[in-house]
Amino acid sequence: MKLGIFDSGAGGLSVLDSLLKMQLFQEVVYYGDTARLPYGTKHPTSIIDFSLQALDFFIQQKVDIIVIACNTASAYALDEMQKKCPSIPIIGVIKSGILAITNKLKNLDSKILILATKATINSRVYQKGLQELGYTNLTSIATSLLVPLVEENIFQGPIVNEVLKYYFKNLDFIPDAIVLGCTHFPLLSQAISSFFDHKSLLVHSGEAIAQYLYTILPHVSKSSNTTLKFFASSDVAGLKNTAQKWLDLSSYKNLTIL
Ligand code: DGL
Repeated sequence: MKLGIFDSGAGGLSVLDSLLKMQLFQEVVYYGDTARLPYGTKHPTSIIDFSLQALDFFIQQKVDIIVIACNTASAYALDEMQKKCPSIPIIGVIKSGILAITNKLKNLDSKILILATKATINSRVYQKGLQELGYTNLTSIATSLLVPLVEENIFQGPIVNEVLKYYFKNLDFIPDAIVLGCTHFPLLSQAISSFFDHKSLLVHSGEAIAQYLYTILPHVSKSSNTTLKFFASSDVAGLKNTAQKWLDLSSYKNLTIL
């Protein structure tokens, strides 16, 4: 199986991490649209346009399946991408994130906090999906400022805490669950969890999509070797560097990076 992973930039590495651990793919092609990041502040038309261009790249690469690691692209472009290329299964992260919530939170009154980029929050995909399943206690906050912090490799400390304080100043409750609805946010898990005294369950899109793939690919067997290839619309060396920093790539068994 050849997997294509698409993100607006480096954030999708958090999803790549979960997918590599599954060891289901002989080849993994990661594409980050680093020249045009961030998507989360862009107009839907541009998000769809950029995502369809990424799809052309994956079609050329002859991948068997595509995971859209980017929440913003999943929110706006999944349907268009599927329409353009019905022959390749294309999986977005939103559905699996919602599924992970339903698996973990049985009480429909649970207080759920959704964190994502401005575009994802405005699309209301998480809110609508959860409401349709009966969850009523939803709060959503666009926390776009967390994206550049992660890009700067700042994962905890005073600046992160100030930004969290700023965004959560009007919250008068501790959420039962927090949806980390942006690729970058799992890297801030420790800071976010500690802000809420480790009392909230964090739902991470990468882990959720890995679980989801197991359910839709039940017959695929483990692959003993994986080849990983990085592509970017700008500075692929920078992307590889970030991957080395954020993921402990040497810890994966039988992984060759090209
Ligand atoms: N990858 C984006 C997401 O998950 C975050 C970064 C961006 O705004 O492009 O929504």
